[in-house]
Amino acid sequence: MIDLHCHIIPWVDDGAENAHIACAMAEHAYRSGVKTIVATPHSNLFGVRGCRNGNYRGRSYTERLSMFRALLKQHHIPIEVLPGAELFAQPSNLRQLLENKQVVTLNHSRYLLVEFDFGSPGSAITTALATISRCGYIPVVAHPERYRCVQENPRLAVEWFAAGYVIQLNKGSILGRLGSGAQRAGVHLLTSGIAHVIASDAHDTYYRPSGFQSLLPVLKRLVPPQYTELLLEKNPRRIIQDRPIPVPEKEI
Ligand SMILES: [Fe+2]
Repeated sequence: MIDLHCHIIPWVDDGAENAHIACAMAEHAYRSGVKTIVATPHSNLFGVRGCRNGNYRGRSYTERLSMFRALLKQHHIPIEVLPGAELFAQPSNLRQLLENKQVVTLNHSRYLLVEFDFGSPGSAITTALATISRCGYIPVVAHPERYRCVQENPRLAVEWFAAGYVIQLNKGSILGRLGSGAQRAGVHLLTSGIAHVIASDAHDTYYRPSGFQSLLPVLKRLVPPQYTELLLEKNPRRIIQDRPIPVPEKEI
């Protein structure tokens, strides 16, 4: 399995607090069957939620990633870690970042993981996603089920899905660890087939842990096994290989 969204690189954002925690997250994920993690530190989130760096990219990013890979090797944890980021879409500088290519996509693909303020109006999110698409990227909408507008009107996520954007649900939402609103919306989107990927969005080893062990039995109850495979393996692989994602209904 592939975890497409994980705050595992230590000392970068509000994810892994230190090398010990980062290695424990990697080990836990590996034991649950995850063989590849895309490291997605927060980006463009200056000073918010304890982030120590607003926008890692370029050399500072690759150096951190290399250090972390070396650390995993040293601890004999054979998990693959690929580059990525979770871009916080600020209306004030989104277009500028995209046009200047100051973003880190998922494993150098066209796919860009993007998050929004949880209280953003749906229309603002739709506009931002269209801007990202016009600039040549494929938006991967991080945890739409956590946004208030989607909880009130899940049709919004259906519209984004129909527009060709990738819908990424959080493991914690499906498990009910991120509130009842996120769980209701997440399970609704999942069971309606309006999801391409489920990722851990892990930040630590306890409150928002890595791995899919606890998720698998829940998915088994909710969706057919072919859909689980799409969500945790096939679609994330297409994304990291920069390949298109077919409409899920055709594959299930
Ligand atoms: Fe995240």
